Amino acid sequence: MSRAPGTGTLAAPPPHRAPGPRGAPLLGSMLDLKRRGQVRFYLENWRAYGDIVRFRLGPLVAHILAHPDHIYYVLASNAQNYSKGPGYAKAQQVIGNGLLTSEGDLWRRQRRLMQPPFTYRSVLQLTGEMSEAIEAMLRRWQTVAESGAVLVVNQEMARLALTIIGKTIFSTDLEDRVRPILKATLEATSFVNRRLASFFDIPLIIPTPANRRFKNAVRTFDMVVYQLIEARRRQDHESPDLLDRLLSAHDDETGVAMNDRQIRDEIMTMLLAGHETSAVALTWTWYLLARHPEVEARLHTELAAALGGRIPDVADLAALPYTRMVVQEAMRLYPPVWTFPRAAIGDDEIGGYHIPAGSLIFPSQYLTHRHPDFWEHPELFDPERFTSERSEKRAHYAYYPFGGGQRTCIGIHFAMVEVCLVLAMVAQRYYLRLLPGPPIEPVSMVTLHPSHDLLMTLEVR
Ligand code: HEM
Repeated sequence: MSRAPGTGTLAAPPPHRAPGPRGAPLLGSMLDLKRRGQVRFYLENWRAYGDIVRFRLGPLVAHILAHPDHIYYVLASNAQNYSKGPGYAKAQQVIGNGLLTSEGDLWRRQRRLMQPPFTYRSVLQLTGEMSEAIEAMLRRWQTVAESGAVLVVNQEMARLALTIIGKTIFSTDLEDRVRPILKATLEATSFVNRRLASFFDIPLIIPTPANRRFKNAVRTFDMVVYQLIEARRRQDHESPDLLDRLLSAHDDETGVAMNDRQIRDEIMTMLLAGHETSAVALTWTWYLLARHPEVEARLHTELAAALGGRIPDVADLAALPYTRMVVQEAMRLYPPVWTFPRAAIGDDEIGGYHIPAGSLIFPSQYLTHRHPDFWEHPELFDPERFTSERSEKRAHYAYYPFGGGQRTCIGIHFAMVEVCLVLAMVAQRYYLRLLPGPPIEPVSMVTLHPSHDLLMTLEVR
């Protein structure tokens, strides 16, 4: 694998194109991406061509990046040359111009406005509400355990994560709206995912079945979100939450309040980005634990010693280092955000290769997190990699499940606290046993999903 860091300076001899698949005339690698699936396409081309893979998506030139130095270069040290680009423009059809997709002054203003509820300190105050939602799920699971029924764990985790976001960020019980929101989420993400791998999209105005389903999904989201806004405007709320912050925000210079469309986009972003990713992280964690009884046993030992059956409170979280390491290792092997797009604004050079202006860049956690130069036996599930001693020695950007640079995930503390809490509370009560079935492969649905439902039974501990 090439090791040269991105330098950004023009070195002699003149930089040349990165290696990669030639692809077909006109379409480039689009058919191959479809045939192999995005994850395999990335992995196999990385193994064949090295840390920078150049390919074409129709007329667009794209590069996959796997080396930590190159990731650091694009996300942090030369981030000013990389915009979110056309990849995110497709996601904007669902989440609009919220924090994840906006850029420039609008992004800076909104990030400042929304940061306070997401500091570690603020998130710790939400653990009580998070545990209430987890307890409610565990009560529901009691009858499942007694009857020996099968749980669709990925769906359970999505429902839980959505309920938690509703309760903590918007002080709203979304329980009666969970089903339509999750259905719309699935519809919208598979639609966007299909469009990410295409360069010609049938305009939304043409009523194909896929376009109609997608528009229905967006209508569902709009209904939920505008109802949230309306309900809050009619009713005062005691302890201000993120929704209050959005509703009462005014521009520093003009004094103008945020319009409903902007508020809608921010809420949509939080609802989607805030539940899909955590749910996927939890799903893969249960899968890995079920397949690694030795790790599960160590987790149980830690939980018994630190909690002795209690619901963990804020102070307990610090006493659960192994729980955290399990989550970190699960997100190494199956990073919920396994790749994400950028676009080069001006010509550049990375690792000695020419990066033309306008080309797409795809840093990939899925590749970097299993880079053999940085991870020993990369395919092995081994939470011990994340002891603080070993983490300190690790190369910068060898691990970046939450992205990096100034666009690092705003929900990083929220997600870590939430996922650790769910793991601790559920694992104290149940073993989650995997039903026999075909092997589960990771597939891209924007985030990294299991190839089919994760079916498990509960065994009381
Ligand atoms: C395990 C869970 C999560 C993972 C793996 C994750 C991952 C990521 C990644 C990789 C990015 C950077 C994308 C880029 O640079 O283009 C990001 C951004 C973002 N995430 Fe998360 N995320 C998680 C949970 C959450 C939660 C719980 C929330 C909200 C409650 C959230 C809200 C956001 C937002 C709003 C952004 C855009 C931030 C900005 O650009 O200023 N995420 N996330």
